[in-house]
Amino acid sequence: MNMNLPFLAVLFLLSFVSPSFSVRCNPKDKEVLLQIKKDLGNPYHLASWDPNTDCCYWYVVKCDRKTNRINALTVFQANISGQIPAAVGDLPYLETLQFHHITNLTGTIQPTIAKLTNLKMLRLSFTNLTGPIPEFLSQLKNLTLLELNYSQLTGTIPPSLSQLPNVLAIHLDRNKLTGQIPESFGKFKGPNVPDLYLSHNSLTGKVPKSLGDLNFSTLDFSRNKLEGDVSFLFGKNKTIQIIDLSRNTLEFNLSKLEFPESLTSLDLNHNRIFGSLPQGLKDLELQYLNVSYNRLCGQIPQGGKLQSFDVYSYFHNKCLCGSPVPDCK
Ligand SMILES: *[C@@H]1O[C@H](CO)[C@@H](O)[C@H](O)[C@H]1NC(C)=O
Ligand SMILES: *[C@@H]1O[C@H](CO)[C@@H](O)[C@H](O)[C@H]1NC(C)=O
Ligand SMILES: *[C@@H]1O[C@H](CO)[C@@H](O)[C@H](O)[C@H]1NC(C)=O
Ligand SMILES: *[C@@H]1O[C@H](CO)[C@@H](O)[C@H](O)[C@H]1NC(C)=O
Ligand SMILES: *[C@@H]1O[C@H](CO)[C@@H](O)[C@H](O)[C@H]1NC(C)=O
Ligand SMILES: *[C@@H]1O[C@H](CO)[C@@H](O)[C@H](O)[C@H]1NC(C)=O
Ligand SMILES: *[C@@H]1O[C@H](CO)[C@@H](O)[C@H](O)[C@H]1NC(C)=O
Ligand SMILES: *[C@@H]1O[C@H](CO)[C@@H](O)[C@H](O)[C@H]1NC(C)=O
Ligand SMILES: *[C@@H]1O[C@H](CO)[C@@H](O)[C@H](O)[C@H]1NC(C)=O
Repeated sequence: MNMNLPFLAVLFLLSFVSPSFSVRCNPKDKEVLLQIKKDLGNPYHLASWDPNTDCCYWYVVKCDRKTNRINALTVFQANISGQIPAAVGDLPYLETLQFHHITNLTGTIQPTIAKLTNLKMLRLSFTNLTGPIPEFLSQLKNLTLLELNYSQLTGTIPPSLSQLPNVLAIHLDRNKLTGQIPESFGKFKGPNVPDLYLSHNSLTGKVPKSLGDLNFSTLDFSRNKLEGDVSFLFGKNKTIQIIDLSRNTLEFNLSKLEFPESLTSLDLNHNRIFGSLPQGLKDLELQYLNVSYNRLCGQIPQGGKLQSFDVYSYFHNKCLCGSPVPDCK
């Protein structure tokens, strides 16, 4: 009796350290992961996905501590060719799904992702995915990050994305998106207003006035074909910090614009902006300013941070003058 106690203690301890005594992996999840591996052509990247081992310890996956269900699949920089397997939709506890920097990943955004209602982060970036941004994404109500950048996505931006109540950032930059920025992007429902990254696409038309109704922190609409007036994005009332509207065809008079104190980075280069630089720019704690390649005229306000930027922040305008560019005549 006494002799058995140490033995039992060792056995008890072993049950914690040795996977053979307590397999965490859920068998359904394991089956699905092995299907995913097979569908991706058994890539070297997933060599650790051995059916004889606990899937909670496999490469690029994570298990939830409580449920032991797979809650993250984060594939990145892998030599993988093919499409996102339909089986990813059968990992119901998934909170993070990432396929990043996989140049040979092709096909459209897998429709079975619609089943992953617990997803918080969806990152499908730096791939060769094609086709549209699917409407079903607006049903993934727990999404905080939607990152679909640097691929070959086409079509228009679904207005329904504004129904994502918890989203903090939407990255759709570096695709081939067309059409207008949805009017609904001025009506995000959640407590947080998301940062919007829509640069390097072929978006056209005017920026909807509705976007002036929200307090955005970061907007990057650069390198599109946007036109018209965007003064409504500014104003003393706003809380915007970073705004990049460079390389569009925006056309408005800058003279009377008021800027919020929060603004730290303003890039307006390569547009058709006219009028003069407002005195209010002097009062900002700007870390970056670029108004080059526009149709601005008149004296650059002297003071604040404005002379800490070089000529290249101001050059190629109609008739801007004063430090750091040549004096006014
Ligand atoms: C992608 O596919 C091409 C052609 O099949 C192949 O040569 C290349 O090695 C693959 N992988 C990567 C990472 O580019
Ligand atoms: C990618 O994998 C394919 C097939 O396994 C191989 O032929 C190719 O050399 C690999 N490419 C790179 C960049 O590793
Ligand atoms: C997409 O695929 C082409 C070749 O088919 C390749 O040259 C390019 O690098 C890929 N782009 C990305 C972003 O992976
Ligand atoms: C979203 O997250 C909450 C809290 O983490 C959770 O209770 C809920 O089941 C999740 N899924 C959906 C679809 O809301
Ligand atoms: C894509 O978005 C992420 C942020 O989620 C960002 O860190 C990354 O630089 C972006 N990639 C490109 C190529 O713009
Ligand atoms: C935006 O923020 C400012 C300053 O915090 C506040 O006065 C204003 O009411 C806010 N506007 C909206 C639409 O939330
Ligand atoms: C500031 O915002 C309030 C409501 O949030 C609005 O009534 C007011 O007109 C705004 N003022 C300016 C100068 O934009
Ligand atoms: C821009 O607006 C200012 C102030 O309202 C005005 O004096 C100026 O003539 C306008 N410039 C042009 C080119 O319309
Ligand atoms: C401003 O933009 C122009 C045009 O793209 C560029 O040449 C210049 O270097 C930029 N200036 C700064 C300070 O980045």
